[in-house]
Amino acid sequence: MLVLGIESSCDETAAAIVNSEKQILASSVLTQSEHKNFGGVVPELAARAHLEHIDEIIGETFQTARLKPTDIDAVAVAAGPGLIGGVTVGVMAAKALALALDKPFIALNHLEAHALVARLNSDISYPYLLLLTSGGHCQILVVEGVGKFKRLGTTIDDAAGEAFDKVAKMLGLGYPGGPIVEKMAALGDKSRFVLPRPLYNSGDCNLSFSGLKTAVRKVIEAYSPDNIIEHAIMRKRDIADICACFQNAVGDIFTHKLELAIRYFKNNYPNGKHLVVAGGVAANLYLRQCIDELCYKTGLLFAAPPINLCTDNGVMIAWAGVEHALNNMYSDLDFKPRPRWPLDENAPKAQGAGGVKA
Ligand code: KG4
Ligand code: ZN
Repeated sequence: MLVLGIESSCDETAAAIVNSEKQILASSVLTQSEHKNFGGVVPELAARAHLEHIDEIIGETFQTARLKPTDIDAVAVAAGPGLIGGVTVGVMAAKALALALDKPFIALNHLEAHALVARLNSDISYPYLLLLTSGGHCQILVVEGVGKFKRLGTTIDDAAGEAFDKVAKMLGLGYPGGPIVEKMAALGDKSRFVLPRPLYNSGDCNLSFSGLKTAVRKVIEAYSPDNIIEHAIMRKRDIADICACFQNAVGDIFTHKLELAIRYFKNNYPNGKHLVVAGGVAANLYLRQCIDELCYKTGLLFAAPPINLCTDNGVMIAWAGVEHALNNMYSDLDFKPRPRWPLDENAPKAQGAGGVKA
């Protein structure tokens, strides 16, 4: 089975073709450069850029795979959550293709695609424990099966990726913040500044990063003669130390919350073997290492998608599409894009061996 996956929910225009034998036949990702000077994604610019490039990205994907559009078995698309303009571009392109080709249409939750893509490269069976950490979301869940999630905890304010982006912005490091903060952190002293670990002692799996971000702001302000963050005068060494302390705090928060989640997972899912970390922040090698060590201590197997499949891409959509198709989970062509779409709600129901239902 061959599935085309289309992604356009944030600032990547992407498409890929994946088959049910877990082979990636082609993958094209265009990361929009329009947002670099804004310290975050500008929704209107993102939507226009998706519209401009989506046809060429899909065309390139078929060309690389040496396939004709008629060769695929289904069209999958990230139909939310995300920036509504971009999501609509992808959904309309996918619906048009499905209709023209008379192939089944699969409207996917973008977060589910992040959650499932680790199964493409590793032998991970359901159920598994998942830390899903991206630019817009940060949740701890049990993945019970395709479209079946139990949420154990979530951020009550910012997502971890958002905190990386905001710290980078405050330090003048550009966007996206995660990769550059990680690079600077590798050069820094992670014990120099004392930063808080919000909600550390809450006794549940909920997370919080807003107070940590504010604490970083205060540290930076102290380098400014008039407490105005833009006037801060910092050496590279200072920036590296702040990045290292911030990243260390995120690592501590993740590790502690996952310890609680592991206890619950082991008690309630005795057959579960894996802890998976996924989403853009899962590309961070320091955080992967922290979670890998926790797995070693607690007897779970650590898994994460390859680095290039952590941030948004078409492969994760195509693979989640394969998983849905194998379970006969297709969508109607009148499916409306969903800017908000909690993962543990409203999973598509299994239908009979589908086809397009317009
Ligand atoms: O999953 P993703 O590509 O988009 C969303 O669905 O949000 O995640 C993007 C987020 C950004 O906030 C980015 O700064 C963060 O992932 N990120 C990282 C790293 N690479 C990307 N955060 C920490 N370390 C990284 N190496
Ligand atoms: Zn994402």
